[in-house]
Amino acid sequence: MSKQPAAKSTKTTQLAGITDRKTLRANARKSIEDGAVTPTYSANRPAVIKLLNDALATEWVCVLRYYRHYYMAKGMLADSVKAEFLEHAQQEQAHAGMLAERIVQLGGEPDLNPDTLTARARAEYKEGGNLRDMVRENLVAERIAIDSYREMINFIGDKDTTTKRILEHILAQEEDHADDFADMLEGWIGE
Ligand SMILES: [Fe+2]
Ligand SMILES: [Fe+2]
Repeated sequence: MSKQPAAKSTKTTQLAGITDRKTLRANARKSIEDGAVTPTYSANRPAVIKLLNDALATEWVCVLRYYRHYYMAKGMLADSVKAEFLEHAQQEQAHAGMLAERIVQLGGEPDLNPDTLTARARAEYKEGGNLRDMVRENLVAERIAIDSYREMINFIGDKDTTTKRILEHILAQEEDHADDFADMLEGWIGE
């Protein structure tokens, strides 16, 4: 008589840190009005939203500063520097968009009140007297943004990897921006 094959077990092995299917499904049905925020979200949500709103204010102040510099730039090097200011203004605005979207996903509200923008921003709105001043002020502002994003990333750690990834993406671009200006200042001739 041939041996019968062993019946397939329907039992799955439980792995540490992995929730069983039944509990997973039941949890997903709880507070569905929270959308993307599920019970396993373990970061301090109000604190993350506050930090994202501070960063949002910083980005908008940077957008406005770059546009001011873009329109005011004049002198021998103005054309190439202007192009850089405009590109940065657009990229800072894109950063603001990413931050605002994430704030909403986390159940918060983006604070775009212009009355309080500069008070909430990390970076400053410095007009700069001449082209070189403008470049220097933008380098300072980028360095503020770099430190501030790095601190946020460290604060969030692995508790909210989506926010962390967004911040890491922005940080890399701020480093790029700072590098652009550092290069410009290095070979600067004249005022
Ligand atoms: Fe930015
Ligand atoms: Fe930047």
